[in-house]
Amino acid sequence: MNILEIIEAKKRGRELSAGQIEYVVNGFTSDAFADYQMSAFLMAVWFRGMTPEETSSLTGAMLHSGEELDTSGMSGPTADKHSTGGVGDKVSLLLAPLAAACGLKVPMLSGRGLGHTGGTLDKLEAVPGYRIHMDNDEFLALTEKTGCAIIGQSGSIAPADGRIYAMRDVTATVDCVPLITASIMSKKLAAGPGTIIIDLKTGSGAFMDDLTRARELAAALVAVGKLYGRRMSVVFSDMDQPLGVAVGHSNETIEAFAALRPDGRRSAPEDLVALTEDLVAEMVRVAGLEPDRPSALTRVREAWDSGRAFDFLLAWIKAQDGVIDPDREDFGLKVAPLALELEAPNDAWLSKINCRQVGLSLADLGGARLQYDDPLDLTAGIEFLPKIGDKLNRGDILAKIYCTNKSKAQAASDRILSAVTFSSEAAPANALILDRME
Ligand code: URA
Repeated sequence: MNILEIIEAKKRGRELSAGQIEYVVNGFTSDAFADYQMSAFLMAVWFRGMTPEETSSLTGAMLHSGEELDTSGMSGPTADKHSTGGVGDKVSLLLAPLAAACGLKVPMLSGRGLGHTGGTLDKLEAVPGYRIHMDNDEFLALTEKTGCAIIGQSGSIAPADGRIYAMRDVTATVDCVPLITASIMSKKLAAGPGTIIIDLKTGSGAFMDDLTRARELAAALVAVGKLYGRRMSVVFSDMDQPLGVAVGHSNETIEAFAALRPDGRRSAPEDLVALTEDLVAEMVRVAGLEPDRPSALTRVREAWDSGRAFDFLLAWIKAQDGVIDPDREDFGLKVAPLALELEAPNDAWLSKINCRQVGLSLADLGGARLQYDDPLDLTAGIEFLPKIGDKLNRGDILAKIYCTNKSKAQAASDRILSAVTFSSEAAPANALILDRME
C-alpha cells in the first residue's frame, strides 16, 4: 500500500477500504508522507465524496488516533450535545447543568470560536479562575460528582482531527460532509457519551446555510453515531439571527447564567429558553429517562423552575475553580462600558439579517478571532435587541455596543447596520426549530 495509489483511487472515485483509510490517517499523523500528499487526498475526497462505510472508517481511524474516555462506571446515563456553531449560541452553558439536574451525566469537550462563530471555551474563560484543562481521570470524576463538566479538548483526544482540520483549513476542504462528519464524531465519540444530540444550525449565521445540505450532514452524523452504538437525535434550528440578545464572551456568559435562575424561563430571551429546553428534553428522552417529549419537557421545566438547575450550575463552576457571585446581576464578570447605541433609521419591520456579519462585528471590537492565535477581548460585546418580524420605530435601539474603543465600536455599528434589511410591510417571524431527524 502506498499513499500515491490511494490518492489515485480516490481521484477516480473508487471506494477505499478501512485499511487504506487507516493508512492515510496514521501516515499523516506520524509524518510518514508529505503534507502536499495529504492535501491532494483531501481535495480528492472533496470532489469524490465518501460512502457511509468510508466515512465510518475515517471516523474510527481518527477516534483511535487518541484516547477514548470510559464513562461506563458513571452512576447515570451519559449524554452530550454538539452544536454546529452560530452567533450568540451560549446554550451549552445552561444546557450542561440543566441536563445534570435532570439526572444525566454530561462530560463535555468544547472548542474555541473562529471567525463569526463563538466558542464555549472562550465564553467560560470570562469566568475568573475557571479551569479548562485537566486530565481525563479528573474530568470523569468531576462529571460524576457534579453531574457535568466542560473542558477543552486535550491533545490526547482524537489528535488526528487537530492536524487534519488545520490542513483542511488551508486547502479549502472544510466544507465537505464526510470530512466534517468524521471530525465532529471522532471528538464526540472519544468523550464517551451514550447519547449525542446534534443542534444543526442553518441560516446566514451558520456553517450550512441551506436545509438540504444540513440534512445531508445530519444523516451522515446519525449513521456514524449509530454504527458506534450511540443514541442519536438531530434538531435543526434557525441561525438567521443571533440566539438570545448577547453576542460576546462575558456578556453571553452572564446571559446564560442569568437565564438558569429559577425565574429565568420567564425572564430570559424566549428563543434561548425554547432551544435550550428542547435540546435538554431530547437528551432526557433519547437517553431513556423519560418515554416521550412531553414528559421529558415536564422534567426539564421542573428542574429549571425549582432552582435545582441553578444549584447544579454553581456547583459545577466551583468544582472547576471558577469564581462567580450569584448575588450580583453580572455574576462578578467584567463587561466593557457601553460605547454606542445603534438606532433604527426608519419606522419599518426587521425582515432579514446577515447574521454572519453580526458575528463578524464582534471581531471589529477585538472580541472574535480571524486567526487561531488572535488575542481576544472577552469584555467586548454586542446586544442585538430585535428579532426578525419585529416592528421598529425610528430611534428605537437596534443594538448596544460595549467596547473601550469608540472607533472600533463605530466600525462594528456600521457593519451591523449594513447587515440588516428593513421592510415597509409586515415581515414574518422566523421559526426556531425547523426539523428533526433520528
Ligand atoms: N466542527 C468540527 O469539529 N469539525 C468540522 O470539520 C467542522 C465543524
